[in-house]
Amino acid sequence: MSRDAWDPERYGAFSAERGRPFAELAARVRVKDPRRVVDLGCGDGRLTATLAERWPAARVQGVDSSPAMVEAARRVPGIDVVLADLAAWRPAAPVDVIVSNAALHWVPGHLDLFEHWVGALNPGGVFAFQVPGNFGAPSHTLLRATAEAHGVALDWPSVAEPAAYLAALTALGCAADVWETTYLQVLKGDDAVLAWMRGTALRPVLAALEDPTDFLADYRTRLRGSYPPTEHGTVFPFRRIFAVARRS
Ligand SMILES: C[S@@+](CC[C@H](N)C(=O)[O-])C[C@H]1O[C@@H](n2cnc3c(N)ncnc32)[C@H](O)[C@@H]1O
Repeated sequence: MSRDAWDPERYGAFSAERGRPFAELAARVRVKDPRRVVDLGCGDGRLTATLAERWPAARVQGVDSSPAMVEAARRVPGIDVVLADLAAWRPAAPVDVIVSNAALHWVPGHLDLFEHWVGALNPGGVFAFQVPGNFGAPSHTLLRATAEAHGVALDWPSVAEPAAYLAALTALGCAADVWETTYLQVLKGDDAVLAWMRGTALRPVLAALEDPTDFLADYRTRLRGSYPPTEHGTVFPFRRIFAVARRS
């Protein structure tokens, strides 16, 4: 993404839905009294702050490459925030917990970076992350097809399947717990899936278009065919992949 494609306000529109996997991931990070905690791809820092609340004696640091997100996160009390690309970032000192929520799929070749992050952990330290597992869902396949129809060719985010994460983490000598969950989100409002996608995967496409009007109209029409509203809202299956790895 050449321009800053992140908008903290729009990303925060579904903060309850987006926060739930983070809470469920963090609940399985069992480290007593960590001194240094890092959140990779911390975004606006709202979820990073929950780590500082949980471990008030720890130094909690967020890392993110979006200037807009970093600016928002620097207003959050109790955390330090660094502007850096995860592909190049390395901790200055060993850490006890590394968390990453909904970010690693934006980092090409992120599996190859695990050795650096696991290698930065103190013995008994934990590397825990959560990534989307829904790139094969209509929301994403239609996004690609519509973008291509409007002349936008991008590097799309990518994730591995759970078994590949388990293999990579155990190969690094970790005790790893990997699982997946599909949340059936019931989104309120008109064109709710479009509104959801505007906060994340749609960002680079909009950033690449001079005038996104026709693209958005086309994508909206396609989404309506796959996600018809019900009397309770629009059902949006939301598959996520989780991993918690402890360094021995
Ligand atoms: C979907 S947001 C998630 C933010 C936060 N973790 C949360 O769950 O609310 C993804 C974040 O990853 C960051 N990001 C994407 N690629 C990155 C990279 N290569 N280096 C650092 N941060 C990156 C983005 O700037 C964005 O803030």
